[in-house]
Amino acid sequence: MDAELLLAHALGVSRTRLLTLNDVAESAEIRFRALVEQRADRVPLQHLTGRAPFRFLELAVGPGVFVPRPETEQLAGWALERLAGAANPVVVDLGAGSGALALSIAHEHPGVRVIAVERDPGAIEWTRHNAAARTAAGDTPVEVIAGDMTDPRLLRALEGTVDLVVSNPPYVPEGALVPREVADHDPPLALWGGPDGLDVVRGLLVTAARLLRPGAWLGIEHADQQGGSLPSLVRAHGSFTDVADHPDLAGRPRFTTARRLP
Ligand SMILES: C[S@@+](CC[C@H](N)C(=O)[O-])C[C@H]1O[C@@H](n2cnc3c(N)ncnc32)[C@H](O)[C@@H]1O
Repeated sequence: MDAELLLAHALGVSRTRLLTLNDVAESAEIRFRALVEQRADRVPLQHLTGRAPFRFLELAVGPGVFVPRPETEQLAGWALERLAGAANPVVVDLGAGSGALALSIAHEHPGVRVIAVERDPGAIEWTRHNAAARTAAGDTPVEVIAGDMTDPRLLRALEGTVDLVVSNPPYVPEGALVPREVADHDPPLALWGGPDGLDVVRGLLVTAARLLRPGAWLGIEHADQQGGSLPSLVRAHGSFTDVADHPDLAGRPRFTTARRLP
């Protein structure tokens, strides 16, 4: 699959076009071989093509930003189901990275106001770039804010008014072994979450409780091993009800949801 996608990229054609291709020009072959070498050296496919698919979008990615993962598409789907029928809901995406969650919600729920928060100065360049591209394509513009999701002053003007907070925060426990594609190419700020992986989530919960209106929804992605610990943390916080955990398509615990108590 990766080889096919790299060949298609080297040729500037779609992957399906490869089926009817009779020949590859020498210049494209040289480009292809160089790409395969880099991929064999564990450079992520998406950094080589510069694109990452996410639901109905194709986002620009590269060094400095977390490559959006297919499992996060389900969290976006859950959020969109919660918003169904709402005329002008307000959504906050904490830790926006490429903008995968924020921009998909804006694309699939016209009329929504989405605020995307990102702390990493390198990553936010990608958030801004992708947000501008989606606005140019006709989607509802997403507001991109430089900020820390654990900052008690973040988005003060929105306190008690937000309809949904969604986040795929850094949640990898310190010392966990990750593939070279991740260790060498995803930004450290996107990955590491302290000894149990939940350091940033603890601050996120305080922010979400402050921003959400009573009855509003929270959805947080987590690691395979956090299907018990993250829901427990949300319950223990005391500001949320209806705490539930959801598996991904492979059946692994993947995201926790809850509602803001009145
Ligand atoms: C796992 S990535 C997720 C990116 C994107 N939402 C996605 O699903 O592909 C986590 C993102 O949170 C950002 N981040 C980490 N700590 C943060 C903080 N305290 N406040 C705001 N953003 C933070 C990282 O820079 C990174 O872009």
